Amino acid sequence: MRTSEQRPTAVATEIVLPGAVEPEGLEVRHVGTPAPGPGEVLLAMEATGVSFAEQQMRRGKYYDQPKFPFVPGYDLVGRVARTGPGVDPALTGRRYAALTKTGGWASHVVVSAADLVEVPDSVPSADAETLVVNGVTAWQMLHRTAGVEAGDTVVVLGANGGVGSTLVQLARIAGVRVIGTASRRHHDRLRDLGALPVDYRDPDLYGRLRGLAPDGVRAVFDHVGGEGIVDSFRLLAPGGTLVSYGTASTRDVAGSSKAPVLKLFARLTLWNALPNSRHAHFYNIWAGLRNADAFRARLRTDLGQVFALLAAGSIQPQVAARIPLSRAADALRLAESGTVAGKVVLVPDRTPHEKFAPEPAPTGR
Ligand SMILES: NC(=O)c1ccc[n+]([C@@H]2O[C@H](COP(=O)([O-])OP(=O)(O)OC[C@H]3O[C@@H](n4cnc5c(N)ncnc54)[C@H](OP(=O)(O)O)[C@@H]3O)[C@@H](O)[C@H]2O)c1
Repeated sequence: MRTSEQRPTAVATEIVLPGAVEPEGLEVRHVGTPAPGPGEVLLAMEATGVSFAEQQMRRGKYYDQPKFPFVPGYDLVGRVARTGPGVDPALTGRRYAALTKTGGWASHVVVSAADLVEVPDSVPSADAETLVVNGVTAWQMLHRTAGVEAGDTVVVLGANGGVGSTLVQLARIAGVRVIGTASRRHHDRLRDLGALPVDYRDPDLYGRLRGLAPDGVRAVFDHVGGEGIVDSFRLLAPGGTLVSYGTASTRDVAGSSKAPVLKLFARLTLWNALPNSRHAHFYNIWAGLRNADAFRARLRTDLGQVFALLAAGSIQPQVAARIPLSRAADALRLAESGTVAGKVVLVPDRTPHEKFAPEPAPTGR
């Protein structure tokens, strides 16, 4: 993916992470709009989001982030402004979502046409944006990794977060009982989503969770890691699955970003090898990328299911705020403030700079 190739006729905006910085250290750059190469399209961004990943990346703590400087932005929704050679020009003007890992925080983003996932017409871009990385992650963990069934009980840590609240909603649709941990101020929302709330700051958190499911649970979804992962594993009923997918508890710990993850992998591998009739997996949204066609087909199917539920009104998007792209620093601060619920969404600036001037399509297609 490219975001900063110079072109003289149109101006794009991109947000650059120059190094490990506080949010105010982000740089706003105006550059020429990038040109799509063979098999690529240029998306005019309509919504991109602030995830936990960007918060980790700005601290240099995301497991496999690129070297600084780079443009962050895990996902986006945008409209095709231009198509590159070999791509059907009829895609121009249509709206798609894409998972990018980095590069999404720009007014214009080049992505491979094969990575586009159609967004239903009835769904606003900001709403769809809240469910790209969150929706894929939640859907795949629930249905592909844990393989839950109606009547199961699961525990979702951080059930009010972006991934967590999506997990709760998808699980409820699948007929699954959900126990969710969250700060007390989010408990009403959890109840609204159909989960049984438990305060994650309760000193007897795991005792309370066991009290609600004395026979153990079918799955635990844990993005917290650290020593608590041992207790998460102990909550499982025989045949149950621990789905670990992050190490949020070590975000502010000094030192290598890889060490906590490698320690976690070692633990999960050991638990899987022991004859305890329980399973432990680390979910990675990028797993299987080496077989790109199968990876993309899975992503399109799974995100398509989530978008269909969104279009049908079966799941609720939660947009915490819409903030112009050039104020990404404010967006990062707001997302971490603990004062808002849902996903903070970045939208295009409405200034003369951001007006995209379409260019004549290159010849030879
Ligand atoms: N492995 C993968 O492929 C993959 C893909 C996507 C996301 N992720 C991971 O998923 C996690 C969540 O991402 P997100 O974007 O959904 O983040 P988010 O919206 O910021 O949500 C994080 C949630 O965690 C809660 N939390 C914080 N500390 C906690 C604790 N000790 N116990 C329980 N809950 C706690 C927060 O609650 P409060 O608001 O009350 O603080 C918040 O609800 C991140 O760690 C991210 O890296 C992994």
